[in-house]
Amino acid sequence: MQKLIWEYGLNINKGDLVGEEKIKLFGVSGSPRSGSTDYIIQEALRYASEKYPSETDYFSVKGKKLNFCIHCDFCIREKKGCIHNDDTKEVYDKFVWADALIIGTPVYQGMVSAQIKTIMDRCRAIAAQNPGFIKNKPGAAIAVGGDRVGGQEPSIQAIHNFYVINFALPVGGGSFGANLGGSLWSKDRGAEGAKDDKEGLKSMRKTIDRLMETALILKKTE
Ligand SMILES: Cc1cc2nc3c(=O)[nH]c(=O)nc-3n(C[C@H](O)[C@H](O)[C@H](O)COP(=O)(O)O)c2cc1C
Repeated sequence: MQKLIWEYGLNINKGDLVGEEKIKLFGVSGSPRSGSTDYIIQEALRYASEKYPSETDYFSVKGKKLNFCIHCDFCIREKKGCIHNDDTKEVYDKFVWADALIIGTPVYQGMVSAQIKTIMDRCRAIAAQNPGFIKNKPGAAIAVGGDRVGGQEPSIQAIHNFYVINFALPVGGGSFGANLGGSLWSKDRGAEGAKDDKEGLKSMRKTIDRLMETALILKKTE
């Protein structure tokens, strides 16, 4: 494993893996509008696909119907998925499809948006059917706040908890620029605010580099 990390983990680029399967990368935006989170998650997917052998897919909660988990335990009893029939099903399918995950959220009251929390809660239904639905898949978190220190880190941590609980592998972007994940300060200026946040963009790129590096190492060890 050490050898693999040395060989493939430090300087991976598209050319190193010519002819190999692409990393299937799925990004989720948890904002109900086309603003900073939508921008940064699409930018993360674009950055990953330009630099690494990858195929990307994207889901935004904007305009989607996402019912709360009502703890009816239908999923646990029947093992046929969720009793709700709504747009969460699309997310389930993409989680299963993906090799690597990015979950992005705006910060609301120092925490993830209700939409992201709902998606994470509703995954209990897919886990009841298939406990390994994201097992051993690396996952990154990106949070965008209107304030510079507005709750990005607790939001990132909540997404990491979701990964840990479901056997995925949370990754951050490392020290000197990213630490726990992508952390952006929009100054409540939507996509324009995120575009202007140079440090935040750097934290996203470092996090995506680590995510793709981890996904490629895992692919090599399959
Ligand atoms: C209900 C609500 C709660 C918010 N709470 C916070 C907060 O606790 N901390 C913060 O930094 N920004 C907070 N904001 C601001 C948003 O996080 C910020 O504008 C973010 O960039 C919005 O993302 P979007 O452009 O993708 O919608 C809040 C916004 C809303 C609507």
